[in-house]
Amino acid sequence: MSLWKKHAIFEKNSILLSLGVIVVISIGGLVEIAPLFYLRSTIEQVKGVRPYTPLELAGRHIYIREGCYNCHSQMVRPLRDEVERYGHYSLAAESMFDKPFQWGSKRTGPDLARVGGKYSDEWQLQHLVNPRALVPQSIMPGYPYLAKTELDTADIAGHLKANRLGGVPYSDEMIANAGADLKAQLNPDDAGAAGLEKRYPKVQIRDFDGNPQKITEADALIAYLQVLGTMVDFKGYDAKANYR
Ligand code: HEC
Repeated sequence: MSLWKKHAIFEKNSILLSLGVIVVISIGGLVEIAPLFYLRSTIEQVKGVRPYTPLELAGRHIYIREGCYNCHSQMVRPLRDEVERYGHYSLAAESMFDKPFQWGSKRTGPDLARVGGKYSDEWQLQHLVNPRALVPQSIMPGYPYLAKTELDTADIAGHLKANRLGGVPYSDEMIANAGADLKAQLNPDDAGAAGLEKRYPKVQIRDFDGNPQKITEADALIAYLQVLGTMVDFKGYDAKANYR
């Protein structure tokens, strides 16, 4: 019997044909999916990416609470216009500690994945209080209460723990020092600043809202905005060297 005749068996029997289709598709699926179970991670490790400090994490929480993601994405796509406007396209590793990620699909405002260091803290504060004071045509709402509201720091160790459950590598030491590290990030003279720098390399330590008397929600949010997109040093980044 020629192969053609054998195939006729399938063509004349719809159930057999369906089973055949399932078998063929499963083989394709297995070939693609099974190797993933043997990889520890599908995300390439990139030098410089570290978990957020307690203060940055608290700021991220406010970013989510206020719904900033409704107007801002955090993912620079590898398209020429985006790379020219925002900088190097986003790497998966840059959001590997974001639980949940803030990539977003809505850009009423600009992408914020690389906004860290683009403006001064002072600019960020004024812009949050009243965006139109700096960008007259802005349609972004003002958030003047952030600079007046004391940051709730009581549960910060719990935040780190919850993120660890989700796979962020916070150590016991980081969790034990969460409260102290949060305060130390706002004052370079703090006794805990050295420990903070050891736990979170290249952390930016200063008072972010210009009011050292009080730890406010603006302190946390600006600390978060100022670290976005700054962890990887793209001057020394070689995409090929990171593939293993
Ligand atoms: C209703 C939509 C909307 C919401 C909500 C919103 N923004 Fe904006 N944002 C904009 C628009 C539009 C701009 C561009 C004009 C301007 O700079 O004000 C902008 C600009 C910015 C910029 C400057 C970006 C750049 O590269 O120039 C930052 C930083 C920013 N927003 C942060 C935030 C944060 C933080 C929140 C939440 C607390 C937030 N935005 C909420 C619409 C929004």
